[in-house]
Amino acid sequence: MTMGFPIDRPRRLRSSQTIRNLVREYRLHPSQLILPLFITFGKNKKEPISSMPGVFRYSVDRLSPVIEEAKKVGVSSFILFGIPETKDLEATQALNPEGPVPTAVRFLKENFPDTTVMTDICIDEYTSHGHCGFLSSGNRIDNDSTLGCLASMSLVHARAGADVVAPSDMMDGRVAAIRSALDKEGFIDTLIMSYAVKYASSFYGPFRDAMMSGPQFGDRTSYQMDPANRTEAMREARLDVEEGADILMVKPALPYLDILREVKNAVDLPMCAYQVSGEYSTLVAAGQNGWIDLDRAILESLLCIHRAGASTIITYFAIRAAELLLKGE
Ligand code: PBG
Repeated sequence: MTMGFPIDRPRRLRSSQTIRNLVREYRLHPSQLILPLFITFGKNKKEPISSMPGVFRYSVDRLSPVIEEAKKVGVSSFILFGIPETKDLEATQALNPEGPVPTAVRFLKENFPDTTVMTDICIDEYTSHGHCGFLSSGNRIDNDSTLGCLASMSLVHARAGADVVAPSDMMDGRVAAIRSALDKEGFIDTLIMSYAVKYASSFYGPFRDAMMSGPQFGDRTSYQMDPANRTEAMREARLDVEEGADILMVKPALPYLDILREVKNAVDLPMCAYQVSGEYSTLVAAGQNGWIDLDRAILESLLCIHRAGASTIITYFAIRAAELLLKGE
């Protein structure tokens, strides 16, 4: 062994908190976080969701406190999901301007004008069969007849004042259909954040509980992506860029960080990642059992999603994470 071995000592850069802070490559800020909100029909409702402890379904008249809580810690972006009173084959309620989501959008833009309001565009919460597209013969999911409905739904949300529409249906061509419908009505500044790369994932389980939106037959594998595929992610991302998306999303987040980084390197758009319901609930459950330190796991998971390429993250932990970030943990 020669004198001075080892020559290279990476640990020097870890020797104190101030040095570690100095050389830190990525930092999260509360303004990067998007809080999902489940908006239900009716009045005076704040319903717990058993598979998502700490998450609730709100009726519009009960929304204010959670928005105020979020804003207090610097979270100003929200993505809304609707639970309609009735479901049918035509997803009629998806186009109702008085439905939970458009009503909530108007409420938020009126009472909290300095927020960014995003809406999920997909008909699975509105169809009686729970699929993200209309059915054709043999119960196949019909791509092209669904596009008009997604475009109309986007218009309903844009007219209510949504800043961003976020199609999550995975039909081919929907970004182009939505962009052209928005532009035709003069909504040239309404952004499209496309769930460009959305995998058919078991991690959506708790969300379907929350929204009562699971498919009544079959599964989503004919439209959502196969977790085994990487090249297909690049193709989906390229198509959505070409069709006019403003922000691309990869979903779920943690099991797909390689995909997130690869898409990030290939496009010149901001990337979003969705830390989905199953990611939330597994961390919460482990925390409740005392198996992990939940607060640290929240910050670590979000930081790693950011490092992998997401400039913005949808997470049910948004408020808790922002509190922790402000405390400087
Ligand atoms: C579809 C939609 C889903 C999620 C967001 N948008 C469910 C699905 O595709 O089955 C999942 C979000 C989550 O799990 O947190 N409207």
